[in-house]
Amino acid sequence: MPCGGRFGMRAPLARDFERFARALPRDFPDYVRETYRIDLSARYLGAAVPHPIGKGSGQLSLNEKQLEEDAAAGLAFAVLKTVIAQDARGAQAMAAWAIHESRMKVEHRRAGDGREGWTVTWKGRGWDRSLDEYLTLVRAGRDLTSAGTLLCVPSVKYHLPPLGEPFREEEYRYTTERLAAEWGDSPLPLEKDFSPTLAGDALAEDKAQILRWLREVPQHIRAHAAVRLALKLMNARFDDEFQLEMLTTAAAGADTLVVFNRLFDERLGVAYGGWDLSERNLRVLDAIADRPSDRPSVQLCGTGNIGTGRMILAYASRGCSSVQLHTFFQVPLSAYPAAAGSRTQRALHALVFHPDDGLVAGLLELEAQGQLERRGGELHFLDLADAHRHR
Ligand SMILES: Cc1cc2nc3c(=O)[nH]c(=O)nc-3n(C[C@H](O)[C@H](O)[C@H](O)COP(=O)(O)O)c2cc1C
Repeated sequence: MPCGGRFGMRAPLARDFERFARALPRDFPDYVRETYRIDLSARYLGAAVPHPIGKGSGQLSLNEKQLEEDAAAGLAFAVLKTVIAQDARGAQAMAAWAIHESRMKVEHRRAGDGREGWTVTWKGRGWDRSLDEYLTLVRAGRDLTSAGTLLCVPSVKYHLPPLGEPFREEEYRYTTERLAAEWGDSPLPLEKDFSPTLAGDALAEDKAQILRWLREVPQHIRAHAAVRLALKLMNARFDDEFQLEMLTTAAAGADTLVVFNRLFDERLGVAYGGWDLSERNLRVLDAIADRPSDRPSVQLCGTGNIGTGRMILAYASRGCSSVQLHTFFQVPLSAYPAAAGSRTQRALHALVFHPDDGLVAGLLELEAQGQLERRGGELHFLDLADAHRHR
């Protein structure tokens, strides 16, 4: 049994980092538990997952092949691309989000504080094929979920009316029922996307209107199927105070909140990420920590500019029991330290085993600083989020 402590572990960690650069074992959470006595178990949408790293909805969860590759890589969960809700006749109030756009540009973006980060520039929006084709993807996701190889979660953008107008109940009903029927098992895990392009839309200029959506959308979905519901919140174009109000409002009807989707650049008309995004997200999560009475009792899942284990721990110590990434699964191959494997494997290798910035190194460092204690001889990733909840 290796001796504890960050420095005693440094050499084995450096060796594992080098060795796993050639091939990451799929059961790396077991390996981490045995070798480092670290339990990476995490939670997403009420489900126990072997570690906290999942894939956010987007262009990297559009087809069965991507899901199978992620299952083989040992990813914890994948949120499927967002489909636009429709009624039985195919009408979509949010049709403007179902546009086709294949060109994406992975590029550097300089944050307000000068730091260079990655962003994906893309003018597309939601799923641009038929609902039937989406249901085929959902079926593949359900099979991987029930086989225990990869938890897959469908994502929907439903109708969001202006204040004073009713929700298009038929779109809520038809889409939710079709998804639930395809999933079979009950409850259906489901993410509802409030996207950054929505934040940039005239629809989202009114605070009362946004708060009404966050309050009422869950009941319109739950009326048609038993669901475990995550609301993926946008970064609205208002101050941190309003962002907190969104969080506490949404917490009332959701099982999990995904915090928070990308920022919107009004000048370029595109969503973006990078350091500005993590800076804002962590700042808002810090603010909620200072106000115990506002702290949501729902689970949180972090998203935004996660490219190191350290950043995962930054979200975790602010209450997130898992994270979902997109950009880091899409950067050029030269940006990963691993020399082989799928992008997902290479990303996991860096996120977990990097000897300075990885999850294992970061957890051992928290132990050395007295911020995390072993229980039953082990460090537990989830203790970070749980300690935050009970503080
Ligand atoms: C090209 C692209 C497409 C995306 N599409 C969706 C989407 O359809 N639905 C959604 O909820 N989030 C979408 N996202 C947001 C990501 O899932 C993720 O939450 C966000 O990019 C922040 O994480 P990151 O900094 O790791 O990219 C998309 C992101 C990118 C870069």
